[in-house]
Amino acid sequence: MTRKFFVCGNWKMNGSKKSIGELIQTLNTAKLDPNVEVVCAAPAIYLELTRSELDPKFSVAAQNCYIVPSGGFTGEISPAMIKDCGMDWVILGHSTRRHIFGESNEFIGQKIAHAQENDLGVIVCIGETREEKEKGITDQVIFAQMKAIADNVKDWNKVVLAYEAGWAIGTGNAASPQHVQQIHAKVREWLKNNVSEAVANSVRIIYGGSVTGGTCKELASQKDVDGFLVGGASLKPEFIDIINAKA
Ligand code: G3P
Repeated sequence: MTRKFFVCGNWKMNGSKKSIGELIQTLNTAKLDPNVEVVCAAPAIYLELTRSELDPKFSVAAQNCYIVPSGGFTGEISPAMIKDCGMDWVILGHSTRRHIFGESNEFIGQKIAHAQENDLGVIVCIGETREEKEKGITDQVIFAQMKAIADNVKDWNKVVLAYEAGWAIGTGNAASPQHVQQIHAKVREWLKNNVSEAVANSVRIIYGGSVTGGTCKELASQKDVDGFLVGGASLKPEFIDIINAKA
């Protein structure tokens, strides 16, 4: 089973009209591996600008969404609005949403269900914090996250799983390729045992946590690494090297 390599640049809360325009120009003119699916996750306020200026070969993702189509939810955006503005993907369950904004596995599950009702692709993040890693409960944490995800997914063809080693995010030091492969293999085995062998073989499992131009090739060579969720480096020219990691 060949899984198309998937790279999402998560711009987080960064950028301006000027800097985003420059980044888009770099992406639109870069020589990219045609066998890689590339998604850019812009801040909500810049989604339409990004969609309008980015080459159509790229997809655009929102970085979060709510659980109902509309209503008195100040500051939130809905999957319907994301689709209405031309986006095809949404990142859900990012470590920031879980550990800064306190989103539970169950709440993230509701977001997944609602995003899928609106035919949005979902990039769903799982992963452990440094504390959970040091306590030795990584598997327990990740499998609980996976259960809440699997309870709410209707169409696995529109799901990409992103394992974020929470303790590596923003540090400049990615998790080791061996650690990443070990976790990805466990997630794929969980899918085989709890969903189906077909889903386990087809779902892309990507890695996030300080991926750089220097670390991407060895990480990409791992059997169960199907791409990356890139933060800081997605705002720099080295993002091109990360997209081309398997070229
Ligand atoms: O969304 C991916 C992100 O959390 C990783 O960030 O800056 O460590 O690549 P960074």
